[in-house]
Amino acid sequence: MNKLSMKGITKTFPGVKALSNVDFEVSNGEIRGLIGANGAGKSTLMKILAGVYPEYEGEIYINDEKVNITCPLSAINHGIVIVYQEVDTALVPYLTVAENIMMHSIINENKGAFINWKKIRCEAKKAAELVGLDTDINRLVRDLTLSEKQMVLIGRAVYQNAKHLILDEPTAPLSVQETERLFKIVKRIKDEGMNVIFISHRLDEIFQICERITVLRDGQLVGTYDADSLTIPQTVEKMLGRKIQNAYPDIETSKGDVVFEVKNLSGSGGINNVNLEIRAGEIVGLAGLVGGGKTELCKLLFGEGNVTEGAILLKGKAIQAKTPAQAVKSGLALVPEERRKEGIFVHEPIDTNITLPTLEKYCKGSLMQKRKIRSASTECIRKVGIKTPSERQHVSKLSGGNQQKVAIGKWLLSDADVFIFDEPTKGVDVGSKSEIYGLIKDLAGQGKAVLYATCEFDEILGLTDRVYVMYKGTTVKELTTKDTSEEELLFYSAGGGLDARQNVG
Ligand SMILES: Nc1ncnc2c1ncn2[C@@H]1O[C@H](COP(=O)(O)OP(=O)(O)OP(=O)(O)O)[C@@H](O)[C@H]1O
Ligand SMILES: [Mg+2]
Repeated sequence: MNKLSMKGITKTFPGVKALSNVDFEVSNGEIRGLIGANGAGKSTLMKILAGVYPEYEGEIYINDEKVNITCPLSAINHGIVIVYQEVDTALVPYLTVAENIMMHSIINENKGAFINWKKIRCEAKKAAELVGLDTDINRLVRDLTLSEKQMVLIGRAVYQNAKHLILDEPTAPLSVQETERLFKIVKRIKDEGMNVIFISHRLDEIFQICERITVLRDGQLVGTYDADSLTIPQTVEKMLGRKIQNAYPDIETSKGDVVFEVKNLSGSGGINNVNLEIRAGEIVGLAGLVGGGKTELCKLLFGEGNVTEGAILLKGKAIQAKTPAQAVKSGLALVPEERRKEGIFVHEPIDTNITLPTLEKYCKGSLMQKRKIRSASTECIRKVGIKTPSERQHVSKLSGGNQQKVAIGKWLLSDADVFIFDEPTKGVDVGSKSEIYGLIKDLAGQGKAVLYATCEFDEILGLTDRVYVMYKGTTVKELTTKDTSEEELLFYSAGGGLDARQNVG
């Protein structure tokens, strides 16, 4: 028997009832999907299992025996291991793969001065093989890709003999191939009898890999269902409590003159001879696979890194932003991909984050006008749909998806002419996604130029007017959205048609 049950779990934070009376049970080697809108309580429920929040109401049973999970170590001792999306927090970058996999054993079993390195390497190798981590176990973890780092953590879980593995949005930053690889491993460890709890906002993935699905809404259990018994629209309705008719807004915006031009641009991050232009009122997609150079280009446009050749023009005038601050001054805004690292100050309240890029608007001389800040923030919170008890809440206390909405919201208040979005809907639930698409359409409606970088081709097809495809740091193809297809985007993103390639400019 391998059963884990949570009964009547209630968890309250100041001003927020994150979970109320939730029952949850997994057993006998299953892959369970855990879904719900941003702020529904998914991560909180799993953090309770992982010993992060020892104070909660309700009971936890392992194989029908009541247990007290008081700290992360007691969770591990009960066979529960969680892999967070921010994998770096659980790894030591300057140690090797083997040392990271064997971390707990090194700490706990080597009480004396003697460490049996041979045994450690041998055991680590076994765990790495089991999870298909195809790399030298003597490499330093800091040199691994994100997906390899996840494998190290899963390898660690396997070595610790975990019985219940929790993956909290593991696939958000992964490429399609990396996701496939992860799923293979997840299936393999399920066959070994481990329970896997899998959180994702990508419903297609949930249906691809999970047998049963548990839905949370506003901290309450909606139900647990066989995946076969639900369609995606039915699932969305259970998550949100309402139907979504059309994810993408069907509004035509009028296009003006070219506002933003990039000519033969080369520079850091492997950017090589990029050409593109955006008109006022136009949403232009930047399509490409993970690693195609989209993020690097967005950064370069925003004054991060060095331009070695070419020019960036705003309304016909060359801009030479050497820092993001200068880029903002010249009229650019960027919602970056890695929100926690770059997009927001997590230890500051929401209102500070939201008004920071446009602080001048809320100051009289050197005096900050608190009332103005407050009303602008509450308006923005409402518009982007940030779930929070107040505008003074620290961003670190918001759910992952709501943090992302802060990163988006803070730029919506700015007077920039050009808005660059880099994978803005990562980790955002389906309902909020369509609201964000609406807000981006509004920007275009106001005559702004929008560059929208994403590897989700349905977003390109649903939202943009034109699209540039990137491959290996170069814009390899320009397409009109209404005349293209997912297949064509994939073809060029994967380097197809390169022989016949003409430069896009
Ligand atoms: N440490 C905390 N302090 C205060 N409130 C918190 C804390 N952690 C979570 N919350 C609140 O609890 C609720 C549930 O958050 P949780 O992170 O569990 O959501 P989630 O379902 O994982 O959402 P997402 O899909 O955005 O990751 C949210 O309203 C969140 O703001
Ligand atoms: Mg979460």
